[in-house]
Amino acid sequence: QLPKSVKIVEVGPRDGLQNEAQTISAEVKIELVNCLTDAGFVNIESASFVSPKWVPQMATSTEVMAGIQRKAGVIYSALTPNMKGFDAALAAGADEVVIFGSASEAFSQKNINCSIAESIERFREVAAAAKAHNKRLRGSISCSFGCPYQGEVSPQSVADVVARLRDLGCDEIDIADTIGVGTARHVQTVFERVSKEFNLAGLSGHFHDTYGQALANIYASLEVGVSIFHSSVSGLGGCPYAKGATGNVATEDVLFLMQGLGIHTGIDLDKTVDAGQFISQHLGRKAASRAGNAYAAK
Ligand code: HMG
Ligand code: MG
Repeated sequence: QLPKSVKIVEVGPRDGLQNEAQTISAEVKIELVNCLTDAGFVNIESASFVSPKWVPQMATSTEVMAGIQRKAGVIYSALTPNMKGFDAALAAGADEVVIFGSASEAFSQKNINCSIAESIERFREVAAAAKAHNKRLRGSISCSFGCPYQGEVSPQSVADVVARLRDLGCDEIDIADTIGVGTARHVQTVFERVSKEFNLAGLSGHFHDTYGQALANIYASLEVGVSIFHSSVSGLGGCPYAKGATGNVATEDVLFLMQGLGIHTGIDLDKTVDAGQFISQHLGRKAASRAGNAYAAK
């Protein structure tokens, strides 16, 4: 039996835009977040307080957080790799901070310039500060289904990182398919393994759609009881440290799937389609959501 309702975490303003080559103004990002708030999302990943030398596109995160119109009850999240990032996120009023590690040693080095063990030590301080300030704490695990540098990643190594993030006090943990290589059975195996370490209700699926498997993987995850999914409006995105990685699964496609399954999301699909068309027009390209484009053409 599938979950009756799911939480969709919209990551377009962060994961979707972070790798975009053209500079996107803070105003456009603010407008995007406002449209998504209006569409009914309860959790929007809106900013990333990382080094602007590493990810220039996220350098306007403070401005974005200051400019958005917040709706009560909506969680506006921000990535915080270290205390410098945490302090900036706190000052900007982020509701939830995200520490992001990896199940692959090689990817950890490329993405955040340290080993998995070192990253956990860095996160320890961020986690304690989050608790002290009553901020929600989320942990994200890249390369949970495969790594662009080391290839295979075992379910056991994902479970190890889940256990360490749990011990730091994470409220929610994301199992991320950074390069989109996961397939349905593998995804179920990983979720079955990691749910021995962390409450299934707090585990999310973060699927990039590089190999066209994301919707199948979401369905497979639903079958094993996962009820939180990440997606980007219009399928925006890619990770700067995962060459060739494409965007997250498109939010419009996920909403269409959930609607068909009778699974409640609380999100207005038409308004989401409009948000996808809005940002795609700004980027000067056709929106990448199949369902979104079909709706827009109606
Ligand atoms: P580092 O060079 O090892 O750190 O970078 P450092 O402490 O030695 O600092 C170096 C410089 O960066 C210093 O500046 C610091 O002040 C500055 P300098 O003295 O050279 O002028 N710095 C910062 N500036 C702003 N905000 C900060 C910050 N920290 C240091 N928070 C670091 C380590 C983690 C900072 C760096 O590697 C970094 O910023 N990496 C960015 C990684 C990133 O954003 N990746 C994309 C997001 S993750 C993702 O997309 C995956 C996900 O979607 C899940 C999935 O799909 O897999 C979440
Ligand atoms: Mg991602």
